[in-house]
Amino acid sequence: MLQGIPGRCVSEFYDHHPISEAGVLAALARRGRDDPALLTVDDLFEFDQDHYGGLAAVDALARRAGVGAGSRVLDVCAGLGGPARFLSRRRGARVVALELHAGRAQGAARLNRLVNERRVAVVRGDALRLPFGSGAFDACLSQEALLHIADKPAVLRECHRVLTPGGRLAFTDWVARPGLGDRERERLWEWMAATTLQTLESYRALIGHAGFSAIDAEDLSEEWRPILRRRLEMYRALRGDTIARLGEQRYQEYDQLYTFFVGLVEDGKVGGGRFSATG
Ligand SMILES: C[S@@+](CC[C@H](N)C(=O)[O-])C[C@H]1O[C@@H](n2cnc3c(N)ncnc32)[C@H](O)[C@@H]1O
Repeated sequence: MLQGIPGRCVSEFYDHHPISEAGVLAALARRGRDDPALLTVDDLFEFDQDHYGGLAAVDALARRAGVGAGSRVLDVCAGLGGPARFLSRRRGARVVALELHAGRAQGAARLNRLVNERRVAVVRGDALRLPFGSGAFDACLSQEALLHIADKPAVLRECHRVLTPGGRLAFTDWVARPGLGDRERERLWEWMAATTLQTLESYRALIGHAGFSAIDAEDLSEEWRPILRRRLEMYRALRGDTIARLGEQRYQEYDQLYTFFVGLVEDGKVGGGRFSATG
C-alpha cells in the first residue's frame, strides 16, 4: 500500500525528495570531495541536476535560446541551481535562478557560495508571479518543472512578459501521449504533484496563445526512455542515503511511485517535449 505520500502539494513533494542539498553534500563526501577550499562547480554537476539528460540537456536548451556570454537568463523553477551554474560557468551567462521551495532556494544559494559562484542570483518566488519587471531577460529556460504548475497559460504569459522583445523561451517538460488514462493522470497528481499534462501539440498552441512566435516542439519521448530507466536505478543506488535522510517508508513509497512513472514512459503514455520560441 502507498501510504503517507505527500500528495497535492509541490512543496511537500520536494520536502521528501531523494535529490536535495544534503544529498549533494553527502555524495561529494563519499567521493572525498568535501574540502570546501578545493571544491569546484564541476564537482557538483553530477549531483545537482534534477532533470533528464544531464548537462547535455541544459546545453541543448542554451543553444536553442541563444544563450551566450553576458546573456540575461531566467531559470524558471531552478531547483538546486545546477543548470543555472552550468549556464553561468560554461556559457558566461548572468543567471537568475527562480525557485518556489524554500529549502531548495536556500540550498541553491548555499551551493553557489560553496563553489564561489557569483553570477547566479537565487530568488525565491512563484513562476506564476515572476518578481521581475517586463523585458528583464534575454532568455527564459526551464526543465521538468512546468508539470507541477496547473495554470500553464499563466506561467507562459509570465515568461513572455519578462522577456525582452525577440527574447527566447526554451524548456523541456513531460507531455501526455495517447493512452494516458484519467486514473493515471490522477495518480501522477497525487503521487508526484504532476498536473495538467499537455500533449506536444496542445503545448505548442498554449505557447502561441501566450504571445510567442517561431515555435518549435521536439518529441523527446524515445530519448527519455533509457534515461528514465537509468534514473530509477540511480534512485535505487541512493537507497542508503535516502533511508538515512527520509526513512525506509519514504524510500519504498518513492520507489513505487517512480516505478509507476517510468512504467508510463515505457508504455508510451507519458513522454517528453522540448519547446523553443521567440517572445
Ligand atoms: C524536477 S525539479 C527541476 C529543477 C531544475 N530545473 C533542474 O533541472 O535541476 C522541479 C522544480 O520546480 C520547482 N517548482 C515547482 N513549482 C514551482 C513554481 N510554481 N514556481 C517556482 N518553482 C516551482 C520545484 O520546487 C522543483 O525544485
